[in-house]
Amino acid sequence: MSRNTLYIVLAALGCLAILVIVFFSHAPLSSTHTNAGTAAATSSATSKTKPVLVAWKAPDTSAIPAGKAGAMIRYGRELLAHTSNYFGPKGSVAQISNGMNCQNCHLDGGSKLFANNYGSFISTYPKFSPRSNNISPASQRIAECFNRSLNGTVPDTNGREVRAMLAYMKWIGQDVKKGQKLFGNASEKLPFLPVAADPAKGKMVFVAKCQSCHGADGGGLLAADKKSYTYPPLWGKHSYNDGAGLYRLGNFAGFVKNNMPFGATYRSPALTNEEAWNVAAFVNSQPRPHKDQHQDWADLKNKPIDFPFGPYADKFSEQQHKFGPFKPIKDAQKEPIKKS
Ligand code: HEC
Ligand code: HEC
Repeated sequence: MSRNTLYIVLAALGCLAILVIVFFSHAPLSSTHTNAGTAAATSSATSKTKPVLVAWKAPDTSAIPAGKAGAMIRYGRELLAHTSNYFGPKGSVAQISNGMNCQNCHLDGGSKLFANNYGSFISTYPKFSPRSNNISPASQRIAECFNRSLNGTVPDTNGREVRAMLAYMKWIGQDVKKGQKLFGNASEKLPFLPVAADPAKGKMVFVAKCQSCHGADGGGLLAADKKSYTYPPLWGKHSYNDGAGLYRLGNFAGFVKNNMPFGATYRSPALTNEEAWNVAAFVNSQPRPHKDQHQDWADLKNKPIDFPFGPYADKFSEQQHKFGPFKPIKDAQKEPIKKS
């Protein structure tokens, strides 16, 4: 009898202990929940709990107005989605680019979260560009992607095509106020690896998870009409040049983690952070067109830490600025400048 009572008391104490443990191990979780919004907005969402945020949603294309203005918006969307048909090597308007489409990196006409969408683009321009060190109009930013991502020359920025692209971008961002920060407007800034990204490990990721579409030689797959790509190239002479945003490891790793293999999303990624960094290192070690960029980032303090061409305001090598480890570079930037 007394032994039974002892058992019951012990069992009750056991249950209580479990309850206490469960309670305390959950308590910190709920506090990350309340911070999730700000954490995600600054893209440092490293915890496993996905933030619950009201994200920007592109207006539905069926809401594009009728008439002349609407026709320009539709033409702009068409140009961004099928750029190659108009400006590629066999383009109908001009032959001035590599055959990629703007949409290859600005997915779904620049309407998708974490895929370089155009949601807040117009609301932030004209703005100061640390890369070109001047205040540039929106058309200048379009020109830069023609020059770099499409490794081409620029169509007349006052011409019908660029005006149509701008009309579409304005339409898609119509509800976004100046200065309003959008959740997921570029792609995720992945946490740094403690080591340098490894092209050899990245090659294994590429072979297993990318090559089936992008091709063993990274050259992509042309569509039957040979005017555009079904699967765009990742390197080689028809790919983006080394002055493009994706040539920076952090941009590539984030974009790929959030969007590749095709169909992956921010909420259901298919790669680990490590795989994303390593495949970025592999792809961006392959040959591609070169762009003279010695005039970019005139103010060295503004140079992004993963910009792989010197000179730098710090003492780290080009190699480390290209592949990492990035944390020591970031930490050095935070240190107060020592007076000698
Ligand atoms: C190879 C990928 C790629 C292609 C193709 C591409 N872009 Fe981009 N674009 C980017 C990336 C990455 C960024 C943002 C990061 C950066 O450049 O620093 C960007 C930024 C932009 C921005 C600025 C967005 C903002 O909110 O500030 C605009 C506008 C833009 N691109 C337009 C275009 C247009 C128009 C085309 C086609 C002519 C195009 N892009 C093709 C990768 C690409
Ligand atoms: C199922 C086919 C498929 C697989 C697998 C795939 N991609 Fe893609 N990828 C695409 C398509 C399609 C696009 C263009 C999307 C569009 O235009 O809407 C694209 C675009 C890209 C782009 C931007 C455009 C460019 O060519 O530079 C990059 C970078 C990229 N993929 C990298 C990768 C990497 C890295 C992997 C492996 C982890 C991968 N992809 C796996 C189909 C695929």
